[in-house]
Amino acid sequence: MAAFETGDAKVDRELLVDINELSHCLAEGRNWSQIVRISKLLRDKCFVHFRDERAVLQNSKYGKLAVHERQHRYIEQQLDDVLASIGAVTRPSRAEIEAALFLRSMLIHHFFRYDLAYKSHLQRVRSTGARPRSHKTHRLV
Ligand SMILES: [Fe+2]
Repeated sequence: MAAFETGDAKVDRELLVDINELSHCLAEGRNWSQIVRISKLLRDKCFVHFRDERAVLQNSKYGKLAVHERQHRYIEQQLDDVLASIGAVTRPSRAEIEAALFLRSMLIHHFFRYDLAYKSHLQRVRSTGARPRSHKTHRLV
């Protein structure tokens, strides 16, 4: 288990819950419509998460904001592509299952590789008294 921090505690918490639920559903081979529904929820919450995160990073004058934003745009495109693929079938083949697994892996990778990268920046900003916004630590199971 590991922790990550971002800008909006409620959105982050819900995102983690949905990622965990998607993981469980995939591992248990649950009904495909349920997997598609959770994946759509995840996509929508990611868009909110990215928007909120941009506001936090802009407010705190994060130097790597442009790179981080490019990552967000790339992921948004991938999320739309994966959703178009998995949402087009009622019975998944291996390709759709792997696409759903990719969606999950891509999000975890971003949260732990890119979002954690600005942690020290936010901590520095906070220590100088310029708190950008409240944020919490959440755990991934
Ligand atoms: Fe991010």
